[in-house]
Amino acid sequence: MAERAAILGGPAAVTRPYPAWPPMDDEVIDEVVRVLTSEPLCPVGATGTQGVFEKRFAELHGRRFALATNGGTAALMLSLHGAGVEPGDEVIGSPFTWGASVSCALQCGAIPVFADVDPDTFTLDPRSVRERITPRSRAIVVVHLFGGPADLDGLRKVAQEHGLALVEDCAQAAGALYRGRRIGAFGDFGAFSLQASKNITGGEGGILITDDRRMYERAMSLGTHPQRLVAELELPEFRNKIDSLAFNFRMHTTSAAIANWQLPHLDEWTDVRCRNAHRLYDRVGELPFLRMPRLPDEAEGSRHGFYHIPFTLRPDALPIDRDLFCRTLQAEGVPGEPYVRVPLHLRPRMQNRDYLGRGFPWSLVEDPPRYARGDCPVAEGLCEVEWQVKASLHTDVPELVDEIADAIVRVGENAEAIAEAARAGRIPAPADRT
Ligand SMILES: Cc1ncc(COP(=O)(O)O)c(C=O)c1O
Repeated sequence: MAERAAILGGPAAVTRPYPAWPPMDDEVIDEVVRVLTSEPLCPVGATGTQGVFEKRFAELHGRRFALATNGGTAALMLSLHGAGVEPGDEVIGSPFTWGASVSCALQCGAIPVFADVDPDTFTLDPRSVRERITPRSRAIVVVHLFGGPADLDGLRKVAQEHGLALVEDCAQAAGALYRGRRIGAFGDFGAFSLQASKNITGGEGGILITDDRRMYERAMSLGTHPQRLVAELELPEFRNKIDSLAFNFRMHTTSAAIANWQLPHLDEWTDVRCRNAHRLYDRVGELPFLRMPRLPDEAEGSRHGFYHIPFTLRPDALPIDRDLFCRTLQAEGVPGEPYVRVPLHLRPRMQNRDYLGRGFPWSLVEDPPRYARGDCPVAEGLCEVEWQVKASLHTDVPELVDEIADAIVRVGENAEAIAEAARAGRIPAPADRT
C-alpha cells in the first residue's frame, strides 16, 4: 500500500537536511578575514586575491585572459561588447533561460532574436539558430542551462560559417565539460556568474574569459577602472578609452576571497553533483510521468555541471498539473520548481519592444523583429512541463537522494487522490505568480 502523500496529511518523505550552500566553514571564513585585513577593499587592478583568482580561472579553462566582474550579467554584457556587438546588431539567443542571457544584448543596444532549443538538453538548437540569421546578425549567446553543455560543435560551426561571435553563458555550468574541455573554453568569450547559488560563488560576482587580446581590451575598456586600463591596455585603439566614463563592474574583494578559496574544490564538487543526480535519475527514470534530459556522453569526455537536477513532466501520464505536482513535492520536503514559466520572447519588454524607453533599441532599425507565440514551439512547450530539484547536492548524500526519489514515487502513487482532493477544494490554491 502506498504511503499517503504529505499534502494529504501523510508524513513528509524527506527527513534529512540538504547540504548548506555555499560552504561557510572556518577555513573559508579565516581566508576571508585574512584577505579583508591584508588587501585593499577595492582592488582597481588585477592585483591581490582578485588577480590571483583571475589568473587561476583563466588557466583552469585554458584561456589567456580573465576579467572579474561584480556579476554574471556584467560579464555577459562586456563579452558582447568585447566581441564587437554594436547598437542595432542582432544577437541570437534562447527564450528558455534566465533573462540576463538576453538582456546583455539589450544593454549593448542590440536586438534579441530568439532561436528554439533542443527538447532533451534545453539548450540552443544549431539548426534553429541557422534559420534565424539575417544580415544584421552579429553574435550568438548560448547558455549551458542547468549545467548541461550545449551542442558547441554545432553552434561553433554555424558561428564560423556566418562570421558571428559566440558567447557562452556559463553562469550555471562551472565544472561542466564538453568533449574533454571545460565549457567557457569554446566561444569567443565564456561568461560566468558567481552569484550565491552558482556552482562556484563569491556571494555575488562574475568573470569572463577569452583568448583574444583585442576582444579582452575592448571588454575591459567599458567596465573597469582607468588604473587597470593604464596597466594593461596594449592596443593603441583603446588608449583613448582610459577614463572614468566606463561602467563600474568591478568585483568586491570579499567575493574574490570566497571564489578563490572555492576554485580548487570545483571538480570534486562537480563529481559529487553528478553522482547524486545520476542516482536520482536511476531511481525515478522509469516512472511513466517523467522524462529525463539527454545527459552528456561521459565516454567522449563531456560532463554535466548539475547546478540543479532538471526533469520534464508528461502531463498525459499524470492527473495533476505541474504546479500541483511541485507543491505536492514541496510538501514532501523536495524543492521542486519550474524554472522558466514564461519564455523570454513573450515577456512584456519584448512584446512592447521597449527596454530603455522610446522603443530602444528596436527603434534603431527599420523593420525590427516581432515576437509571437509559436516562434519557438519547443521552448514554449518546455515552459509548461519542465521542473527541477532546485538544490545544491555537492556533498555525497545518497540517503537524501533516495528520500527525494521516494517523494517523487509517492507523488505518482497518490496522484489520483491528490487530483480528487484538489477538485473537492481540500488543497488550497497557490499564490499568484508569473
Ligand atoms: C543563465 C544565467 N545567466 C546569467 C545570469 C546572471 O548572473 P548574475 O546574477 O551573477 O548577474 C544568471 C544568474 O542567475 C543565470 O542563471
